[in-house]
Order: sequence, then structure tokens, then C-alpha cells
Amino acid sequence: MKNKRLAVILGFLAVLAVGAAIYSSLGSKGSSSDSGSSKTAKVGVLQYVSHPSLDLIYKGIQDGLAAEGYKGDQLKIDFMNAEGDQSKVSTMSKQLVSNGNDVLVGIATPSAQGLAAATKDKPIVMGAITDPVGANLVKNLEQPGGNITGVSDHNPAQQQLDLIQKLTPNVKTIGALYSSSEDNSKTQVEEFKALAEKAGYKVEEYSVPSTNEIASTMNVMTGKVDAIWIPIDNTIASAFATVVSSNQEAKKPIYPSATAMVEEGGLASVVVDQYDLGVATGKMAAKILKGTKPADTPVEIFNTGKSVINKKNAQVLGITIPEDVLKDAGQVIE
Ligand code: TRP
Repeated sequence: MKNKRLAVILGFLAVLAVGAAIYSSLGSKGSSSDSGSSKTAKVGVLQYVSHPSLDLIYKGIQDGLAAEGYKGDQLKIDFMNAEGDQSKVSTMSKQLVSNGNDVLVGIATPSAQGLAAATKDKPIVMGAITDPVGANLVKNLEQPGGNITGVSDHNPAQQQLDLIQKLTPNVKTIGALYSSSEDNSKTQVEEFKALAEKAGYKVEEYSVPSTNEIASTMNVMTGKVDAIWIPIDNTIASAFATVVSSNQEAKKPIYPSATAMVEEGGLASVVVDQYDLGVATGKMAAKILKGTKPADTPVEIFNTGKSVINKKNAQVLGITIPEDVLKDAGQVIE
């Protein structure tokens, strides 16, 4: 009698247990398919330093991700800014890897290099990297091979030279101001110099180890050159106000390689659109999140520019901008 009752209880418990197991497996199936569609993508972003161009690229990245559906609670961005500090680049890179992000994005060459040193298997998307091969980030632009792909902003150097020739035909010596610590700048200076020398210019290089040497270097170079050219260089871009204030008396025409610097006190340039670079980077990060492998995703290259003319600065320098240049300009700052 006692055993029978025990058997009934055990049987009842067994039925309960099986029922619970079936229920929970159904439940977990249901909830796992739910979380499949609402799984939050984690994107780690490392920006090298703050300057208006990189800030705009970051905005574009967010918009590019959103355009592909990664927004609101579908996306968690783990954003860090190294403030131009190399030791922060390496600690933050390691942090972003260990935080369990699905995809990493490096804005500007030093941060992409930091991320590349921190992981060989997590996918990395390069945000606006001037020379991915020269910076040792990918072996081949068409077939990157490793865990890295992304977007490259190749400076339209020949177009810039043509503009220098049109706006300031009397210029003979051009000073190139750039940072000696940025791989992206070295290759641009080489390319610009070769093209300029072919066109009959003399190019003098003025490289600075950090923002601290910009003012003193400007003081020397403004006495020796007819015009100043600046590549897509983060160090110079982040302290461009110093470049402008150091040129107050010498009043040399400055040809920088980004819209923000033309707005801040440059004369003119031919530039790649920074926001577009960001959007393309964000869309590529979305593609990788959806499962595409960096190894066989070609690097997307932006190498043609539109001209930006600062008419106000032209007036200050006593330069008249030819009508056809104004008519063809992508942007005129009045
Ligand atoms: N291309 C630069 C790099 O590789 C980063 C960059 C993008 C930049 N836009 C810029 C630097 C504008 C200066 C100004 O590091």
C-alpha cells in the first residue's frame, strides 16, 4: 500500500518532470529565436584623436551602421578616443578586444595599427586609412587575406597640385608640413613630392615629432617657402589653429588636405568627403557583422576629390580666385 502510493507519487513527478522539460525546451526555442532577431551587435570603435574630420567620420560610421539596420537596441557601440596618445592606443585596443565586441573599427592609421597588434582573429574595419599596405595593415587591397579590411582615403595629390598651379602660379618652393610619427603622412609626402618635382616645383619637407614643435617649425618654414602643403595628417589636423596663428604675419597660402582645415584658415584644396568615408566604413562594418569575412572583402578606396576654396582667406592673402575655379568648386567658403 505504501509502495503503491510512492509509485503513484513518483509517476506523477516523472510526468511533471517530462512536461517541464518539454515546456522549457519549447520556451527556450521560442526565446532563442526571439533573441536571434533582436541580438545586440557589439561594435568597438577606437578613434585616434579628436579633430573635426575624424569626428565627422565617426558620425558617418554611426549613420552607415544605422542605414544597414544597426541602430537603437540592435547595436551597442563601445567607443574610445586615444587623444593622440600612443600608450592609450595600445591599452584601449586590448580593452576593446577583451570587451567581447563582434567587430572593431579603427579611425585613423595609428588606431587601426593598435587594434591590429591586439588581435589576429577578431574582424577589424579600417576607417579612413590613407595607405593600408604601407601601414602594414593589409597585404593586398583587393584580397586583404587576414582579419582586416575597410575604407581608404587616398589623397588626390595631382588634383591638389593642379589647383596650386591655378591659384598661385608664382609659387616655386612648397613646404610640406607633417608628422614624422604617422605612416599615413610619409607615403603622401613621397607621392606629392614626386608629382610636384615632375611639375617643376621644389619641395622642402618639414616634419614634426608632435604638436609641440608646430609653432617653431612654422616660424622657420614661412621664411623659406612660397606656399605650405599639408597631407591628411592627424597631428597637424588636431593642432591646425597653431598652424594658422603661426602664419599670421608671413601670410603664406596654405593648402591642407581636408575641408575642416580649409575652413579653419587654409586657402584651398581638393579633398575626399569625410562624412562619406564614415558612412562607407559603417556599411562595411555592418557587412562584416552579417558574416562576410574581411579576408576576401576588398578595401574600398576613395581617391577622387572635390575642390574647396576659402574665398575669405584668399582676400586676406590678396589672391583673386579665377572664375572658372569658383564655378567648378565643390564648396566655396565666403
Ligand atoms: N587618413 C588618416 C589616417 O590614415 C585619417 C584621417 C582621415 C585624417 N581624415 C583626416 C587626418 C583628415 C587628417 C585630416 O590616419
